Amino acid sequence: MTGEGTRPRPLVAGNWKMNGLRTGIAEVRAVSAGLAAQGGPAAVDVLICPPATLIMVMAEILKGTQVSVGAQDCHWAPSGAHTGDVSPEILADAGATAIIVGHSERRADHGETDSMVRLKQEAVHRAGLTAIVCIGETKGQRLAGQTIDVVVRQLQSSLSAGTTSANTVVAYEPVWAIGTGLTPTLDDVADVHSAIRGQLVDRFGPDGRSVRILYGGSVKPQNAKELMSIDNVNGALVGGASLKAADFLGIVDAYA
Ligand code: PGA
Repeated sequence: MTGEGTRPRPLVAGNWKMNGLRTGIAEVRAVSAGLAAQGGPAAVDVLICPPATLIMVMAEILKGTQVSVGAQDCHWAPSGAHTGDVSPEILADAGATAIIVGHSERRADHGETDSMVRLKQEAVHRAGLTAIVCIGETKGQRLAGQTIDVVVRQLQSSLSAGTTSANTVVAYEPVWAIGTGLTPTLDDVADVHSAIRGQLVDRFGPDGRSVRILYGGSVKPQNAKELMSIDNVNGALVGGASLKAADFLGIVDAYA
């Protein structure tokens, strides 16, 4: 359990997935203006992960604001003959401060395994960035009562020995809740996050208490407050609702 006083600083991260043209930059300006107008809810970190093409321009626009820019995936090599891929070093050069690795859509669409995710996490650290490592069960696994086992196994195999609270964020995203409007019950979220916390502390000692654990999967302004108030939920990874500034700000507001 994360006790009062040791509660990690929350993070609300937007994952734009394969959405976002240059016109979408207006939404990012609106997010940073909205936060500035509120005096910025100082108690929360805010990150937006657009498609790679927009990272550089967004990093310029957001310089000096409360909003950081991240990437959605990377290769594990620093450079070389990997057509179409980008490395953490290239993403860092463009202005990214964090990289999502092991999202379930990457695992499903590109056959990414836990060991590939671990290689990517290590590569993100090599470049000096924060890795947001995603885990989560499928509908079938949940119905079969395997959720905790699956999540713990993914965690064990996807996280490297060099994991610290400064270089890694864990995102629990039930696959069946992503983009569906469905969410687990608050008790179910609490159970999984508590199991993840236990695993992090077992493996990484006291620092495991400070690793941020995000919940992701159909987070909206309407459900953010109740999800974010669960013990061991230290923020959100937001897909669809991160594309519109008003919705994203509504989620960040859970920490206002
Ligand atoms: P969603 O996506 O918020 O649209 O459900 C979450 C994610 O995939 O990170």
